[in-house]
Amino acid sequence: MPRDVTLLWALRSPCAFACPHCYFGTIEEHKDDPPEQAGVLSHLARTDLPANVLTDFARTLADSPVERVIIAGGEPLDWPAALEVISLIKAGGCQVVVATNGVPLTRPHVAERLVALGVDGVSVSLDSADPETNDQMRPSRSGRFGYHDVLEGIGALLQARGARPAPRVGIYTVVTRSRPQEITDVARLAASLGVDYYVPQPISLAADHQLFHPMCHTPGDVADVGEYLDLLYSAPQGLALPDPSYVQRFIAAISTHDGGHVPDCFGGARLFFIQPDGSVWDCPSDRRIAAQVTHARGLRHTIEDGDARTLFATRPTCTDCSLFSRDCVNMWPLVLDMPRLLNPGPGR
Ligand SMILES: C[S@@+](CC[C@H](N)C(=O)[O-])C[C@H]1O[C@@H](n2cnc3c(N)ncnc32)[C@H](O)[C@@H]1O
Repeated sequence: MPRDVTLLWALRSPCAFACPHCYFGTIEEHKDDPPEQAGVLSHLARTDLPANVLTDFARTLADSPVERVIIAGGEPLDWPAALEVISLIKAGGCQVVVATNGVPLTRPHVAERLVALGVDGVSVSLDSADPETNDQMRPSRSGRFGYHDVLEGIGALLQARGARPAPRVGIYTVVTRSRPQEITDVARLAASLGVDYYVPQPISLAADHQLFHPMCHTPGDVADVGEYLDLLYSAPQGLALPDPSYVQRFIAAISTHDGGHVPDCFGGARLFFIQPDGSVWDCPSDRRIAAQVTHARGLRHTIEDGDARTLFATRPTCTDCSLFSRDCVNMWPLVLDMPRLLNPGPGR
């Protein structure tokens, strides 16, 4: 059985940040009206699985088709048991990449533990090179943390890594229509910090989201975004970037809201998404989840009492997917580009 599956595992729902555009929605909108529909994410942790269920599942990853696990959420590193889960995944022979808001890296021992556990990559979210703009996009709930803590966290991780090759450290930036210049501004900042890889990704919001019009790109934004992406790829400043085909995918996604077609989509074949409640989906795209809910009629897969050796053993080959959206753009870096982003060698 080939070992070629990537899991994007949203480990926990809570997060100390309250980004108004977050895929998980906001606590304010959910506290009176918690979402009940399958596949809808929330920072409320009402249905998050207990730690022992997660560790039981993590133990089944050895000898499974899973090659790589991207740990996300919510904020995984605010949950102390995350380090045990990561340790079990590594013991199962999988590559591990942790997606974090960066602040937990400033706490004593978190960065050291990630290095000691042999974590392969840490992707830190930063949405602007300008402190004030970043902290508006990514406000902490307490108002006590922000841009400067994120930079301190990146510094702490790079220092803990020292001369070792891993973890590779990356920055992920959500690009909105009003600030295409962040594509190159954050790259410059990332390079100056000594970061290894960089992924700017388009914001993705449902058409009825209150931030859809101010934040989501329209076809009129394509030329500006294309110009900044071209500048980034012509001068990557030593940063590893997704394969150049990423640019066309980014541009295609923001050129329309009507979707598109992906021949040979790896969702449900080489990529799966696990929600904090244990539900397993072909991919985190809201369109693909909605389609699965319709087709599965209640027959959903879950990691609760699940075994990775069987859950991902009988999987279809890649499909022709007609649900391409902005959500999809970042899936190629997770699945196909990760070896390139994590490569410590020259000439990447
Ligand atoms: C949901 S967060 C979870 C991991 C971690 N707490 C963090 O802040 O990176 C994962 C990534 O999704 C991005 N993200 C959240 N909502 C998004 C949206 N509507 N469109 C595009 N990216 C989004 C975040 O900026 C972050 O880089």
